[in-house]
Amino acid sequence: MTTHAPTPHGITTHRLPPTAPILLIGSDGMLGTAFGRLLRAMERPVIRPSLTDLDIASGESVRSFGARLPACAAIINCAAWTDVDGAEQHEDKATSVNGTAMTHLLGLARERGAVLVNYGTDYVFRGEASKPYAIDEPLQPLNAYGRSKAVGERALLAAAADGSSGGWLHIRTSWLYAPWGKNFVKTIAGLVQTKPSLKVVDDQRGRPTSAEHLAHTTMRLLSHGARGVWHATDGGECTWHAFATEIARIVRASGKPACEVLPCSSDEFPRPAKRPAYSVLDISATAALLGQPADWRQHLADVMPRMA
Ligand SMILES: NC(=O)c1ccc[n+]([C@@H]2O[C@H](COP(=O)([O-])OP(=O)(O)OC[C@H]3O[C@@H](n4cnc5c(N)ncnc54)[C@H](OP(=O)(O)O)[C@@H]3O)[C@@H](O)[C@H]2O)c1
Repeated sequence: MTTHAPTPHGITTHRLPPTAPILLIGSDGMLGTAFGRLLRAMERPVIRPSLTDLDIASGESVRSFGARLPACAAIINCAAWTDVDGAEQHEDKATSVNGTAMTHLLGLARERGAVLVNYGTDYVFRGEASKPYAIDEPLQPLNAYGRSKAVGERALLAAAADGSSGGWLHIRTSWLYAPWGKNFVKTIAGLVQTKPSLKVVDDQRGRPTSAEHLAHTTMRLLSHGARGVWHATDGGECTWHAFATEIARIVRASGKPACEVLPCSSDEFPRPAKRPAYSVLDISATAALLGQPADWRQHLADVMPRMA
């Protein structure tokens, strides 16, 4: 069956076939774990290669893995180079995982008749805006990680433009966290319980996003036949300081002690990679299709009690 869902920027193809397996790449990562759990609950057949089975940065690895792969409904790529500061020193490696790997994965998806799902970042934008970044805003990354992700996006758009793509969905998101994996929420929840006070930057604004919510949103976008570039985050927006203050409040509400969280500027904590000051993504197209997402505080309150 062919359906045509609205696509803000990109292309439209078919809905997801219900029984063919889904190839889940990067299934041990933060978002990959959320996907593994969701797909299990949905009783979808899933193929979960390890990094040894499939290294997306290597064309040879993707080709030899692809030769043994059955037809798939979707290839969900949660694998990425996500070390933002480390990418400054290793931009070539970050680009091979986040950028040029897209060409290998597009070929694999086309051969297996699958839609390719990939994730992008708010860090492809410059961060000087005062209103949420629209989907088709020009890419002007400030750091190597953002540049590596922009290379991937351009590869996807080029494949759509020259007709060599079998269909893809690229979802930009921001500030991910989950009950598992290394993330800001876990780090801050630990620090507020052990430090007398904590300073967190108050001059970077964005949208926290629950990885579990993002996995759900992705499956809903797929079920609506969405293709091309989309934005998906939790609702609302905040600074890292406001995010940390809410984490400390929830820690206290659970009966544990938590120190005060003080605001500071990014200049007080220089890091190898420059971060955008404002990276709120415009999620109106996704909200129009799927409904307004819950506020980030609501997802945070749901996730934190389940953290180890
Ligand atoms: N985390 C955020 O705040 C954030 C924000 C915006 C966008 N995103 C995007 O969201 C997606 C998911 O992020 P995440 O935080 O869940 O990532 P993550 O936890 O860092 O997981 C990434 C996974 O990719 C695997 N991987 C790395 N290189 C690989 C390769 N060459 N071939 C196959 N697998 C490889 C990693 O394996 P190893 O652990 O063995 O290296 C890891 O399991 C990424 O595209 C990321 O850029 C994340």
